[in-house]
Amino acid sequence: MALWGGRFAQGPEDSVFALSRSVHFDWRLAAYDLRSSMAHLAVLKKSGLLAAKEADAINAALRELATQVADGSFAPIDTDEDVHSALERGLTEKLGVVGGALRAGRSRNDQVTTDLRLFSIDHMLEIATLITHLQSAILEKAAEYVNDPAPGFTHIQHAQPVSFGHELAKHAHAFARDLDRINDWLTRTSVNSLGAGALAGSSLTLDPAFTAKNLGFDSTFANSIDAVSDRDYVAEALFICAMIGNHLSRIGEEWTLWSSQEFAWAKVADAYSTGSSIMPQKKNPDVAELARGKSGRLVGNLVSVMTMLKALPFAYNRDLQEDKEPLFDSIDTLLLVLPAVTGMIATTDFDREKMALAAPTGFSLATEIADYLAKKNVPFAQAHEAAGKCVSLCESSDRQLHQLTNSELLAVHPELDGEVRELLTVHGALSSRTTAGGTAPTLVAQQIKDALIANTTTQKEIANKQRAFSEMMSA
Ligand code: ARG
Repeated sequence: MALWGGRFAQGPEDSVFALSRSVHFDWRLAAYDLRSSMAHLAVLKKSGLLAAKEADAINAALRELATQVADGSFAPIDTDEDVHSALERGLTEKLGVVGGALRAGRSRNDQVTTDLRLFSIDHMLEIATLITHLQSAILEKAAEYVNDPAPGFTHIQHAQPVSFGHELAKHAHAFARDLDRINDWLTRTSVNSLGAGALAGSSLTLDPAFTAKNLGFDSTFANSIDAVSDRDYVAEALFICAMIGNHLSRIGEEWTLWSSQEFAWAKVADAYSTGSSIMPQKKNPDVAELARGKSGRLVGNLVSVMTMLKALPFAYNRDLQEDKEPLFDSIDTLLLVLPAVTGMIATTDFDREKMALAAPTGFSLATEIADYLAKKNVPFAQAHEAAGKCVSLCESSDRQLHQLTNSELLAVHPELDGEVRELLTVHGALSSRTTAGGTAPTLVAQQIKDALIANTTTQKEIANKQRAFSEMMSA
C-alpha cells in the first residue's frame, strides 16, 4: 500500500517501484516500528489529538499486529513499499480509515530513523554480550598458560620470550576497547527523533521528551532538521563492527599460523575444524580463516555508508535508505562469527613443551645482555652493540648465548662478567619483566584476574541495559 498518491495521476512504473521498494530488507524493523507507533499514539492521545476511544482501538490493533508479525501471520505483500507502509496496511485492514490516524504529526523521515536507532541499540547490545563471552573464553584460556613461556614476536621473528598467557590475554584488552566504544556510542544513539516530522517539527502539540521517555531513549533531538538527517550512529556502529572484525581477523591469523605444521603450537578441536574434499588427511582452521576473511565485508559496509553520506544534503534524501543493508549485514556477520570464534578459542589446546623449547631460540635472550649492561650504567647504545657482538660470536660458532665463556664475554665488554649467564634463561627473562602490564608471570596472573573481574562487571551492566530495553519493547 502506498502512503502517498493524492497528487499523482498514475502510480509508479514497475521499475520505479522495484527500485524504491525496501520492505524485503527493512521488514526486520517491524517490531521497532510498531513500538514507536505506540509511543507516537500515546502523545496523540495525551494531547487530545485523538479521542481516547479511537486511540485505544488503534493501540489494541497495534498490539495484535505485533503478535501477528512475531508469529508470521502478518507479512508484507508484493504491493507494500516499505515496513512503514506494510504496517499501515495492516492497521487499516483492521480499523478502516482510522488506521491512517497515526500519520498526524509524524513523517516516515522521523519514523525510520527512530526505528533504526531502536534496532541498532538492541543489536549492538547483543554484540556486546557476545564480546564479553569471547573475552571470558580468552581470559580463561590465558589463565591456563600463565607459566608457560613461548617466543614473543615482532616482524614474526623471535623477539623476546613471553608468558603465553600474556600473549593470549592481550586479545581481551582489544575487545575491552570495543565494549567501551559501544558504551560511548550508546549515549549518541539513544536519542529520540520522533516529533521532528518531515524536517521542521510539527504544528501539532507533540511532546518529544515524553516520547523519549516512553521509548527508553536518554535524550531527545535538539534540531529537527539534524534529527532526520543524522546517520552518524549508523556509521559509528559500522566502524565499531569493522574494528571488532579487525580484532577477530588478527585472532584468525594467529590461529591459522599457530595450527600450521610449521608451528604446530595450536591443536584446534575437531568440532571447530573442517576437512578437505580431496585430501583425507587435511584438518583446516576454517573458523579462523573466516574470522579473518569476514573482516573485509565489515570494512566494506563502513565505507559504503560513509560514501553515501558524503556531501548528502540535509534533511531526508532517499539515498538514506541505503543505510540499512550494510548495517544489517555487519551486525549479522558478527552475530555469526563471534560465537564460533569463542568456541574455537575455548577448545584449543596448545603444545606447552614445543613453545617452551622455542622460547629461547633465535637469540631471544640477547636483550637480557643489553639490559644487564644498562643496569651497570653502560650507555644503552654501547650495551646494545655488545649484545649484538655476543649474538654474532654465537652464530659463527653455532652456540647459544649462555655457552659463551667468561673470557669471551669480557672481551666483548669489560663490564660483561659471567654473572650475566644467570639472566640468560627464559625463566629469568620472564620474571624480570615486572613493568606494570609486563610479561612476568606473577603480574600476568594478576592482569588476567583483574580483566576477569572487569568482564563480570561489564556483563552485568550490559544485561541490565538489555533487560531495560526488552521491558520497554514489551511495555
Ligand atoms: N523506506 C524509507 C527509508 O528507508 C523510509 C523513509 C521514506 N521517506 C520518504 N520521504 N520517502 O529511508
